[in-house]
Amino acid sequence: MFPVERPRRLRQTTALRDLVQERWVSMGQLVYPLFVRAGSDQKIPIRSMPGIYQWSVDRALEHLAVVQAMGVRAVLLFGIPSRKDPMGSEAYDPDGIIQVALRRFKQHFPGVVWIADLCLCEYTDHGHCGILRGSTVDNDASLEALARVAVAQASAGADLVAPSDMMDGRVAAIRRALDEQGFESTPIMSYAVKYASAFYGPFREAAENTPEFGDRKTYQMNPANRREALREVDLDVAEGADIVIVKPAMPYLDVLSEVKARINVPVAAYQVSGEYSMIMAAAQHGWVNERAVVEESLLGMRRAGADIIITYFAPRYGQWLQQKKA
Ligand code: PBG
Repeated sequence: MFPVERPRRLRQTTALRDLVQERWVSMGQLVYPLFVRAGSDQKIPIRSMPGIYQWSVDRALEHLAVVQAMGVRAVLLFGIPSRKDPMGSEAYDPDGIIQVALRRFKQHFPGVVWIADLCLCEYTDHGHCGILRGSTVDNDASLEALARVAVAQASAGADLVAPSDMMDGRVAAIRRALDEQGFESTPIMSYAVKYASAFYGPFREAAENTPEFGDRKTYQMNPANRREALREVDLDVAEGADIVIVKPAMPYLDVLSEVKARINVPVAAYQVSGEYSMIMAAAQHGWVNERAVVEESLLGMRRAGADIIITYFAPRYGQWLQQKKA
């Protein structure tokens, strides 16, 4: 006890503080989400997410060269299709936007980890994450479609597939389909814990996937529940998930921490669109320091147990790291 114990002794200089720092955020742990759309020469700003765009494949290639130079090593792809239908069939069409993009991107950037978001909501005309029966999302009918998407993405070169639909049993269905088609080495990064969150608001503009009626509360989780998150994680790991995601990140750090303590597969935190937009909005007003707040938010996720962080800030963070070195 004081005066013997003085925690301030280890805080006296930057080098000393670095020496005893418990957690770091490095570029190898970050995943950058990217929105790709059909057409050419397209770079469409997303109003609610300053600095984030929908890209056509050709323009995306230029952007990818830039972000790769900033240190980005893993990219999570979302597609905005040219046509939507009740089945979301462009999601598994070999010439669908994600499959086309994957083939091109892989060829130009073979060293990047290419992750395909696996869901139907951007591709269905009703905007829900599965196939409808009447006005309900039919779980088991959706599994077949999702498995088809996984195979199409793996065939186009996806290094990982990331199911975000929240149907029951989808990890097992996807694993089985991938294995049957010879993709037994393609890992599944499952959005195991995905809350029905208002923090996805800006993403709806970015990915054009707003449900035509109702909401996602019959398949995404109730924000009030923690025990249920552990149940979802147990099921996904048992079904073969290689990595699990907790989403959103900042309002759910308690969940992240419990998930991490419970299982032995890597855990990812998804700092979602609304988290990004709030920081950007406050920073643009000069109300917070963007860089300091982003670094602190990412460190918080690492401290809570995230092995991997999916964040729209990945390229900017890489730029800041390079400035620090210089
Ligand atoms: C689609 C999907 C969503 C996000 C990732 N995949 C939106 C949703 O479920 O409504 C959200 C990502 C973000 O807000 O950044 N299944």
